[in-house]
Amino acid sequence: MGEATDEPENDAGFEGITASLHSKGREMTHTNRATDIDAAVDIEERRYIEANPVSKSMFRDAGFYLPGGSSRQSLYFDPFPLFLARTNGSRVEDADGHEYIDFTNDMTAALYGHSEPAIVGALRDALSNGMCYGGPHAHEVALGKEICERFSSIDRVRFCTSGTEANLVAMQLSTVVTGRRRILAFDGSYHGHMCNYLAANMPLNLEPDRMIFGTFNDTGGLDALARKHAGEIAAIIVEPMMGAGGGLMADRGFLAALRATADRIGAVLIFDEVQTARFAPGGLQSILGTEPDVTTLGKFFGGGLNFGAVGGKAQVVERLSPTHPETLMHGGTFNNNVLTMVAGYAGLRQVATGSGIRALNSRGDELRERLAHIAAAKPVPFVPGCYGSILSLHFQETLPTTPREIRTPAALRKLYHLFMLNRGVYISRRGAINLSFAHTEDDCDRITNEFEAFLDAYGHLVS
Ligand SMILES: Cc1ncc(COP(=O)(O)O)c(C=O)c1O
Repeated sequence: MGEATDEPENDAGFEGITASLHSKGREMTHTNRATDIDAAVDIEERRYIEANPVSKSMFRDAGFYLPGGSSRQSLYFDPFPLFLARTNGSRVEDADGHEYIDFTNDMTAALYGHSEPAIVGALRDALSNGMCYGGPHAHEVALGKEICERFSSIDRVRFCTSGTEANLVAMQLSTVVTGRRRILAFDGSYHGHMCNYLAANMPLNLEPDRMIFGTFNDTGGLDALARKHAGEIAAIIVEPMMGAGGGLMADRGFLAALRATADRIGAVLIFDEVQTARFAPGGLQSILGTEPDVTTLGKFFGGGLNFGAVGGKAQVVERLSPTHPETLMHGGTFNNNVLTMVAGYAGLRQVATGSGIRALNSRGDELRERLAHIAAAKPVPFVPGCYGSILSLHFQETLPTTPREIRTPAALRKLYHLFMLNRGVYISRRGAINLSFAHTEDDCDRITNEFEAFLDAYGHLVS
């Protein structure tokens, strides 16, 4: 159960479990367990449908205007998603009037929780000066300076409006500065809705034929690919912790090998820190000790408003300067939206400070230990993954290091998800826990207790 992004589910884990069962006897065991999980899902699904008639009818009506009733496919789940009416702090309330503790936090974008007072205050002040300037302003410079000061690998930063856009710009920019065309990425990675490598066939991906795919954390495989395609590769793009792919941390050695390979073959190394920038003021790169040429940012950096950014070495990002002799035109009406710039700056300066981030990560680490302790006492095979304030839940013995090693079946994820929703805990189908600055100790106690309740009710289906 990896998570924390804005993308569809990776169900590779289910294929993994099927593939791992060879003997006839074990197939029987698996079949019986799958039937039992389906029966349990039926029970939780019926409860869910009965409890949420307003969401159900809103979802049906939405389908008359929005494709599949949805503006953002990652928020869809069956039988129908909850329609939300309001949010505050660590809570969300749905259209049927139920309150939930929110551990989805808008797929990590709501790092500050909902309506964080410092951000709301800054937005109120900014609104009195208007909201759509249409000219350069001090707020974009302030946020840009803050980002450059936080990331030692970032000399210049260009804003855009989403993480997807940031990654597309980073990849295109790399092709221009290197004069090459191909991009090396990793199976199971997610860099946005048009650079989505969670599965092989994603027809909306841009230029699929230029992609080359390696295996995450496989340094030997990387060497072979680099040798074969050395003169063609413009960029290597990687998430230092694969979010959607299952919450998998990159080995330090793997990232160092990416750096050495990029240097050797003359490619641009791009770190997608859209999710992972929250782990330290200078991003996960500052923890894992490898610096990329280009870093892409998104989600919480906009303080809860639309955001994307491409930052990096001056020699690469300066190509986006309008006064560069070989300038590359890159625009975007809302790139310097004043409200985003103000919210992003207020969040970084007043909430996501060095000490704030450290405290939030420690809270995540404690929660990880508590969950592991509960599962071990049952005992249920379980290992929590990810880092600090993002927790992925894997109902298996060992921590996966590549997407292929994820074994949690999709039906079990659905069971866990509906169980939690039915008990007032808002999580996504992937089941991850995304902590925000608004969470309290009580909130963490609550999810710990509900996790234990899940294992008491359905732990026998997990082994
Ligand atoms: C690692 C990563 N990169 C890029 C993106 C795309 O960001 P956006 O949804 O803002 O386009 C996401 C979103 O989930 C992400 O998790």
